[in-house]
Amino acid sequence: MKREVAMVTEAFAKVFGDTDGLTIVRAPGRVNLIGEHTDYNDGYVFPMAIGYDIVMAARKRPDQLVRIHACDYERMVAFSLAEPIAYDSEEPWSNYPRGVLWALQEAGVKLSGMEIAFLGTIPQGSGLSSSAALEVATAVAVKHLTGFEFTLPELALLCQRAENYFVGMKCGVMDQFISLLGREGYALLIDCRTLAYERIPLELGDYRILVCHSGVKHRLVDSEYNRRRQECESGVQVLAAEFPPVRALRDADLEMLAACRERMAPVIYKRCRHVITENERVLKSVAALKAGDLKRFGELLNQSHDSLQQDYEVSCAEIDLLVTLARKVEGVLGARITGGGFGGCTVNLIHADAIGEFTRRVLPEYHKQTGIEAQVYISTAANGAEIL
Ligand code: GLA
Repeated sequence: MKREVAMVTEAFAKVFGDTDGLTIVRAPGRVNLIGEHTDYNDGYVFPMAIGYDIVMAARKRPDQLVRIHACDYERMVAFSLAEPIAYDSEEPWSNYPRGVLWALQEAGVKLSGMEIAFLGTIPQGSGLSSSAALEVATAVAVKHLTGFEFTLPELALLCQRAENYFVGMKCGVMDQFISLLGREGYALLIDCRTLAYERIPLELGDYRILVCHSGVKHRLVDSEYNRRRQECESGVQVLAAEFPPVRALRDADLEMLAACRERMAPVIYKRCRHVITENERVLKSVAALKAGDLKRFGELLNQSHDSLQQDYEVSCAEIDLLVTLARKVEGVLGARITGGGFGGCTVNLIHADAIGEFTRRVLPEYHKQTGIEAQVYISTAANGAEIL
């Protein structure tokens, strides 16, 4: 982290002249342990923040000019707050900070001009939420510079709004929420309807969370994601006609779903079944962890993958291969896809002594079959965003 702070400070000085009045913020990426595609169904999720971050240096300007420099791309954008903030299709990375400033203005926050430089250690396109971390870093930096009053859950919703309505990705609130509220040593059980949360100590003993990046990101991620949302909504319509208290899939159980099966296309039925069973698996996982039953937690991770693969259909050949190979390694208690899907990463619950074997067996075999080098990341649960 010290290194990244030095690098971003140096880059800031180079681009903007000096470092007077600088605020430095870090905001982490995340890995979701379990609870996939449940957040936008008012359900439960169970992510942890990871030790890979966006590190941002920012300061105010006396005028209305905003200048944002992306150190990793060596690109800069500049625009004036006197004009409406516009989407930039030439510098797509800039739409995350732009979107946050736009959402703050929409919320009635009076902004001043600013200078920002940032860099990141979260592998891009990995599904570890580098974009949510960039939004969160911007929001926390601007909050510090301007001093507006927002609770952290409110800030998470604001960043989600930026992504939904400015960037155009209809994500749920999980990624922004965990990037703001993560805590070292804890995973976070979030109720995405009420935004109530509970920090659950991640006491894994000799076990570790191993994240394996497949190195693939399939096209259509966003359109398939938005389509899944619509499929869930049409499932809710059928359920609500029969059971009026159902407002979201969170309110339904398998019995209700069975009662409506005849009135649903088979694909809608499968999508609903995933979400309903996944919500149950999150709560069971938390109970297993509280009871120190890692074997059970691992089984639930495996079941989650199978459900995402068969019912929700958001996995892909490369990820399925990584999961199959991982499950053959002795000491792996569970392996599943994590994040939005169609590539990205797997999350594995693995004995510390088995990590060597994982890298020796899974990675070469994966490379042999796909021609792609997968990457392994071991991370403990990290803190959420902070001013450094
Ligand atoms: C993406 C979205 C999240 C969540 C996951 C799937 O990461 O940004 O809101 O829906 O997919 O669980």
